[in-house]
Formats: sequence, structure tokens, C-alpha cells
Amino acid sequence: MVEGGEVLYQTKNAPEYSDLNSNSVFDDKQTGERWLVSSVHDKKRSLLIWVGLNDFERKMGVRVLIASLFIFLFLIFALAITLILRGVNYGFRPLKELARQVDGISMKRLEPITMNDVPSELVAAVKAINDLLCRLSSSLEKERVFLDFAAHEMRTPIAALKAQIQSYVASGEYHYSPKMKNIENAAHRIEMLSDQLLEWARVQSSNCMGANMVDVTEIVRQVVGDLIYQERIDIERVDIDIFPPEAFNVLANPSQIEIVVRNLIDNAVKYNDKQKARVRVSCYQLDSSFQIIIEDNGPGVDDAYLEDITKHFFRISPADQKGTGLGLSVVAEIIELNHGELQFGRSSGLSGLSVQVSLPMASRE
Ligand SMILES: Nc1ncnc2c1ncn2[C@@H]1O[C@H](COP(=O)(O)OP(=O)(O)OP(=O)(O)O)[C@@H](O)[C@H]1O
Ligand SMILES: [Mg+2]
Repeated sequence: MVEGGEVLYQTKNAPEYSDLNSNSVFDDKQTGERWLVSSVHDKKRSLLIWVGLNDFERKMGVRVLIASLFIFLFLIFALAITLILRGVNYGFRPLKELARQVDGISMKRLEPITMNDVPSELVAAVKAINDLLCRLSSSLEKERVFLDFAAHEMRTPIAALKAQIQSYVASGEYHYSPKMKNIENAAHRIEMLSDQLLEWARVQSSNCMGANMVDVTEIVRQVVGDLIYQERIDIERVDIDIFPPEAFNVLANPSQIEIVVRNLIDNAVKYNDKQKARVRVSCYQLDSSFQIIIEDNGPGVDDAYLEDITKHFFRISPADQKGTGLGLSVVAEIIELNHGELQFGRSSGLSGLSVQVSLPMASRE
């Protein structure tokens, strides 16, 4: 601001008054800077007001403006992306819940999907999956019933065949030759096979049966009694310890416990090569589960076979006439159905096989 040729006020970096002009663009010869100018000249009062913006500041201003705009746009963009992701996440929640439930379906438990607040877009999909599960379940049920029926029906002709062999032998009509013995063994094997198949079919449907308070040690004693009666245990040769000696009560499915215990005790005796076979059955209660450990003083099972012995029809010596190779797979199936654990190892006390069955306490149904 200049009045009567005297500078009243000027900013620090303003050009010299003597150089000023009132053009819209002013080149400062001293500094070489270019200024954008706006000036007012009041001739009456000899007052000049000169306002200029130099090029450097103008460019800086534009840069700052552009940078601020970018930062602002970036923040808006980041906020929009976050909101979109949250929205998508929220929108996909029912789909994720459906995926979780479908993931949890196993062939052992084909229960229909139950979801609250199913969005209308998913109703048809959930219904289609539930219809499929229903069809699958009924077809599996038919297969189970057929297996049960077939195994059951096989027993009658086998029993007749065995009876015929025994009556021929008793009548003295035929010499009890090795061939006859082979036929009898074959009939016996078919009988064992049909028994195990029947057991398999029953295990599949027994899971639907409710659980009761059962005394495991009593079941073990009954199983041992049955095996003695069936001449599968020779009391002269086999010693069986049951621990605890008193009752051991747990909530479980009694028929499943019986199948597990029978197969494991049968194996412990059957594969025992010692003159005096020893078997120990011990039961322990844990927090919400219980354990049954069956150990023997037999040869045990080589580590290399431990992974395979629960597979269908697996026997370490395939020529072995003693079994069908189905017993442990039935045991493993029961343990899996009940979300339990089955572990094999070497018994530290008896040095044969040790089988540890861990089962959660069942709920009363
Ligand atoms: N206590 C054991 N000691 C040594 N070997 C064993 C023992 N238990 C199982 N095995 C081995 O594991 C294999 C599989 O046993 P699994 O009970 O499944 O069938 P199996 O006894 O042959 O037939 P099944 O039980 O149907 O009569 C057996 O053939 C045997 O070789
Ligand atoms: Mg067996």
C-alpha cells in the first residue's frame, strides 16, 4: 500500500515499490519471479493498493490443494471399501452359517440343516439340501435293513449245514476226514462272517437307541461267561482280571459296550500264543468320559500294522482261519459314532497288545 509515493505497508517478500506496475502480470527483474497482479490506484488520494501472488506460491498453493484433494479422496475411498466389506460380510453371514452346517454333515449323522432367519434367497437351497439328506438317509437305512436281513437269513442255511455235517459225523456214515473238517471250518467261517455283518448292521441302527446307566464290569463278566460258554475261552488256560472288582457305572449304550468288550477280549485270547494267557480289563472314570483298557500278554501288534488293523477284512496273517477281519472295524465304527477315541499300543505290564477305548458319557435320550 503506497500513499503519495511513500510505502505504508508491504509484505516481506513484495517487490520494490519503484519497480511496481499495474499490469496483470509483473516480472520482478531483481528476483526474476513472476507475479499475478491486481492493483487499485486512487489518483485523487494518490493511493495505490497492489496485491500480487508470486508464481512459486501460486504453484505451491495448487500443489497443496491437489494433495489435500487426494488425501480426502483416499480417505473417502478407504471408508467406502471398509463399509462395503462389512456390508458384504454381514450379507454373507447366512451363507457362511449354511456352509458351516453342510461341512458338519457326516454320513454317520445325516441330520437336516436347521437355521434361524434364513434369507428368502437361501430358503430354496436349504430345502433342497434337506430333501437330499432325507433321501440319502432313507437309502442308507434301506441298505442297513437289507444287510441286517441278508446276514440274518444266512444264519439259517449255515446252521442247517453245520447240523448236517455233525449228524453225518455222528451217524458214522462218513469218515471224519480232513476234507470233512475243511467243510466244517468253512461253514464255521461263513457263520462268523454273517455274525459280524449282522453286528455291523446293528451298530449302525443302535446309535438311535437311548443310553442307560450301565455297569461296565458286569457287562465284561457277562461277555466272559458267554465266551466260555461258546468255548472261545478255555478257563484252564486263560486268566482274566477285571478292574475295578466292584460296579463301574457309566451312561452309555449297553449293546455297543458289549460289542466293543466282546471283540477286544475275544482278540486278546484268540491271538495269544502263551501257555497261560493273561488278559486285564481296567475301567477308569475321567471328567466327562470314561476309559476301558484291555491288555494281554500275547504277541502284540507290530507298529507297522497299527494303522490298518481297524480296516474292513484286515488280518495280519491273511491265511489265519481264526477270524474274518471285521471285529476291530466294528469296534472302531462304534467309537467313531460316539465321538470317542481308540488307541492301540504295547501293554507296559503284560507286554502284549493294549487297546484303550475312551468314550464320552452319553446323554440320556
Ligand atoms: N490282541 C491282539 N493280539 C495280536 N493281534 C491282534 C490282537 N487283536 C487283533 N489282532 C490282529 O488284528 C487283526 C484284526 O482283528 P479283528 O478283530 O478286526 O479281526 P479278526 O479277529 O481277524 O476277525 P473277527 O474279529 O471278525 O473274528 C487280527 O486278524 C489280528 O491279526
Ligand atoms: Mg477279532
